[in-house]
Amino acid sequence: MKTQLFGRDFIAEQDWTKEELETALNVAVDLKRKFLLNESTPYLLHKTLFLLFFFSSTRTRTSFEAAMDHLGGNAHDLPSDKLQISHGDTAKEIGKILSSYGHGIAIRHCDWKEGNAYIREVAEHSAVPVYNMQCDIHHPFQAMADLLTIFEKKKTLKKRKIVMSWAYASSYTKPISVPQSFLLLLTKFAADITLAYPKEFELLPEVMKSAKNNIKQNGGSIEITHNMKDAFADADVVYPKSWGPLVITSDPKKCTKIAAKYTDWICDEKIMKLAKRDAIYMHCLPADRGIEVTDEVIDGHQSVVYDQAENRLHVQKAIMALTMGGR
Ligand code: CP
Repeated sequence: MKTQLFGRDFIAEQDWTKEELETALNVAVDLKRKFLLNESTPYLLHKTLFLLFFFSSTRTRTSFEAAMDHLGGNAHDLPSDKLQISHGDTAKEIGKILSSYGHGIAIRHCDWKEGNAYIREVAEHSAVPVYNMQCDIHHPFQAMADLLTIFEKKKTLKKRKIVMSWAYASSYTKPISVPQSFLLLLTKFAADITLAYPKEFELLPEVMKSAKNNIKQNGGSIEITHNMKDAFADADVVYPKSWGPLVITSDPKKCTKIAAKYTDWICDEKIMKLAKRDAIYMHCLPADRGIEVTDEVIDGHQSVVYDQAENRLHVQKAIMALTMGGR
């Protein structure tokens, strides 16, 4: 078990070694057990975490706040419009000042071509760990919760067909960070991944390159298809969710127009029948019900969406305990 994680940032799953990620998952399982047994876990007693949100959140906000409660510390929710950022506070100032008041800084900033750069700039000037609560490129805590859920439900990644598929949504242009972090993390663990998306919805070339390098180092495989039904055939795990055609355009009107060509990319009971009988349905939430997925599927017996949401709490506690309080 890799134990020297004190002081480390968690901005992208790709920044940590497989051994370090395994350590975090092991600690998450332990913390989950302790939570279920109502055991005390005061690993971050009197420590302060700042949560800086440039974008809305339900699960991330509440699970980070709860995580700090359970670990004996405090979380402070800082919506970006309540700070002086629009009046000139720079990323450097945020890093230097917040890290002089507390022990960790967590940031959600999903603006395309801005979010990740902002978080990394804060981290450069912070004396304490910086956590990525979702940016334009990565959603690493979501990916860790997703992987823990797959291990719980499927025991192993060996001989499992794992599908990350695009699906249509009409609510807004969703970030590309969930499929990218999922791909990067699972390829570190030698998974066999099938990526399915209409041709305009490619992932970033640098992400694909890193994922292919992961496969070279660890094993596993990546298949790409532009046919949702082919992807679902004999799958063990399906994760159909929407993301924007951001690699080719971030213009909201153009994104909506492109996505509207593919309204038939919906996860319904018919397509679920192509997967294995014991396949699990995953979604990070929120989902566009009736558009991205039918109620029958998301509320059905194959759905593990509430396990995924719950596991956010446990992986976040693990990573914060190791990096803010560990050695
Ligand atoms: N899955 C997820 O990150 O949910 P929120 O956007 O509600 O935080």
